[in-house]
Amino acid sequence: MLRPDDPPPMIRIGWIGCGTHAGEMLLPQLVRLDARLEALCDLDAGRLGRIADRYGVGARYTDPAALLAHPGLDAIGMAVGPAQHAALATDALARGLPMFIEKPPAPTAADAAQLAEAAHRAGRPCVVGFMKRYSTANRIAGNILRSAAFGPCVSLLGEYMTAPSYFAGDPDYSGFYLHHCVHAMDLVPWLLGEPVVSVQARRFEPVPGKLSLHVAFGFASGALATVVLGTHQSRGTPMEWWQVMGDHQRVEIRNVHEVRHYRAPGFKAGDPAATLDPAQDALTWEPNLTAAANEDHKGYHALLAAFLARVRGEASDAPDIADGARAMRVLEAMVRSAESGGTESV
Ligand SMILES: NC(=O)c1ccc[n+]([C@@H]2O[C@H](COP(=O)([O-])OP(=O)(O)OC[C@H]3O[C@@H](n4cnc5c(N)ncnc54)[C@H](O)[C@@H]3O)[C@@H](O)[C@H]2O)c1
Repeated sequence: MLRPDDPPPMIRIGWIGCGTHAGEMLLPQLVRLDARLEALCDLDAGRLGRIADRYGVGARYTDPAALLAHPGLDAIGMAVGPAQHAALATDALARGLPMFIEKPPAPTAADAAQLAEAAHRAGRPCVVGFMKRYSTANRIAGNILRSAAFGPCVSLLGEYMTAPSYFAGDPDYSGFYLHHCVHAMDLVPWLLGEPVVSVQARRFEPVPGKLSLHVAFGFASGALATVVLGTHQSRGTPMEWWQVMGDHQRVEIRNVHEVRHYRAPGFKAGDPAATLDPAQDALTWEPNLTAAANEDHKGYHALLAAFLARVRGEASDAPDIADGARAMRVLEAMVRSAESGGTESV
């Protein structure tokens, strides 16, 4: 029997997909939590062996169905790709296994909706990797935006860019939409605190492979949001910037690790006693990157902690497949609008 100060039991995880993202970002954060990698799977035996050796995992599968049948698993994690996320998560949920799937949750909004239905039928969580909600700066901003003192959000401006090389294999931009833009389709309504009801996108493609989209999101409250998404910036530079305005205050989030909260101070020039007033002047936060602490400001660690809480049956704000299906509907409305030039409802 667990005593109140006992650590939570280790959750035994079966993991599918030993590629770049799992190896670099997810698994290093997962093993810092109360979870044990029990079994691994990848179609590519070389990748599977490298990651299994790194974590000392003996149970290795090149067939995901065999991994799902591995005895004694408490939950499954997955970072593969949209079609596999939808298909394999459906199988895992049917076995009663809670799921973590990376974004995108499915190739289409209809597939994501079916997966949401499968999770509902199984009564098991299916958490989606929208870690941007958990990056330290976005969390701080979200908490400010949801505080009574901020009041209703009026507008959002944002940029969320990437480089052409990253999606060089997808000249139709499907990879850009699914793997990159989908983050914004979740984060924008999360920041503004209400669902997107319509989308209007304008597109400019200066040369093939380099796309710029200016996307306007509509909300039932009348709030406005405009986000620039594109494939024409270097991944060696900061790519992400958001600003949300309320009445006489605004919050800016730069590069997922810097937050500024501007409020309503008076002019300073004519005031010889001018100082910084904690009740009115701007507040800022950025992390101390020299601290010898393994902090993950991008949000993967906090997201996986929220997933494990769901597996333990605890309350958690982890984004689930219903959020994933909503984000996919907004994404498809954006793609339709970029083609039609008109406003598309979600
Ligand atoms: N949230 C983020 O910041 C972020 C960043 C990068 C990637 N991702 C997402 O993670 C996912 C994986 O991306 P990646 O860059 O690691 O790709 P990747 O190609 O490096 O890795 C995918 C791995 O899955 C394996 N695989 C493919 N089909 C399989 C199957 N049926 N069964 C078992 N293994 C299979 C491949 O062999 C490969 O090793 C994508 O959905 C991507 O959008 C998220």
